[in-house]
Amino acid sequence: MQLKKLIAKYPKETLLDGPTPLQHLTHLSQKLNTNVYLKREDLTHLTLGGDKPRKLEYEIAQARLNGADTLVTCGSMQSNHARLTTAAARKLGFDCAIVMSQDNYAQIQGNLLTVHLMGAEVRVVEVEDHWDLESHVLRFCEELKQAGKKPHYIPVSGTTPHSCLGYVSGGLEMVEQLDQMQVNLTGVYTPFGTGGIFTAMLLTFRQNGIWAPFYGISVNGRLPKMEAYHTKWWQALCQLLEQDPAQQKGDFALHDEFIGREYGHATEECLDAVLLMAETEGILLDPVYSGKVFAAFLNHHASGRWGPDDHVMLVHSGGVPALFAYHQEIEAHLKKRGRL
Ligand SMILES: Cc1ncc(COP(=O)(O)O)c(C=O)c1O
Repeated sequence: MQLKKLIAKYPKETLLDGPTPLQHLTHLSQKLNTNVYLKREDLTHLTLGGDKPRKLEYEIAQARLNGADTLVTCGSMQSNHARLTTAAARKLGFDCAIVMSQDNYAQIQGNLLTVHLMGAEVRVVEVEDHWDLESHVLRFCEELKQAGKKPHYIPVSGTTPHSCLGYVSGGLEMVEQLDQMQVNLTGVYTPFGTGGIFTAMLLTFRQNGIWAPFYGISVNGRLPKMEAYHTKWWQALCQLLEQDPAQQKGDFALHDEFIGREYGHATEECLDAVLLMAETEGILLDPVYSGKVFAAFLNHHASGRWGPDDHVMLVHSGGVPALFAYHQEIEAHLKKRGRL
């Protein structure tokens, strides 16, 4: 059965208002002598956009089915997921509580500013790995239960088996757009945090006969962690969608060499990529996710991988509000490159 029919049986809330654009970037394509397309997931229709509304449409439907009244999640101080879960909670009538890991971006700026504006209950903890907050969130859920609330735990990055359905649905949207534009892709780049976007898109494209190589660009975890995440979501999704997990995945590669020192490190190549996209197309990337995806693409392009016959799509998953929290790094970079 087609994926479109199979996902239709899962309940979803509404956080989007129609498709997001898939754009051919003319100036950049000309400059790089290849064809670059950008899927504008930064332009989803909830509180400054990003990938999370697609995921949350399915996950919050589960929360409602379970009779929850409070969404509880976690992330870094500049978590996009915290912003969009709080926004979704406000829009759909839930309370919201967030555990954040202390880091260098704790000023009331960017995403954190919006989280406080929308009034989530925020608890800050000290941990070594910003993506390893589960025990803290589960404890918070217990406290909320004792206070008479009905919490629904949403893991880091919003990735669960049901939320991955959001990027099956998003992937189907892209397949339709590519068909309408008559584009035969030869490469696809996505960010990779927990691998929810990457894995769901890979399954959806393969099921629809698109066999272009996929590149998952890590923002935090090293290869073994990426592989474990990818396998976990692949199996969970295949189970939800009655697919054979042993089916062919085609050509794909996971990359962990663009992370830099740690999660959230705005590397020089990332800042150069953000600057290039801004100067050539007037499109803002972010220094944590989309900037790294574009940096990886540029790195591969520089090594001769992409030429005039290629058609490469990058996913811009959002995160732009974090630009404002990184103003010092960006100012220094603009000075270094003679723009200031
Ligand atoms: C803007 C943005 N892109 C990508 C991701 C990572 O997505 P995934 O965990 O599905 O790989 C995140 C995670 O929070 C994000 O905020």
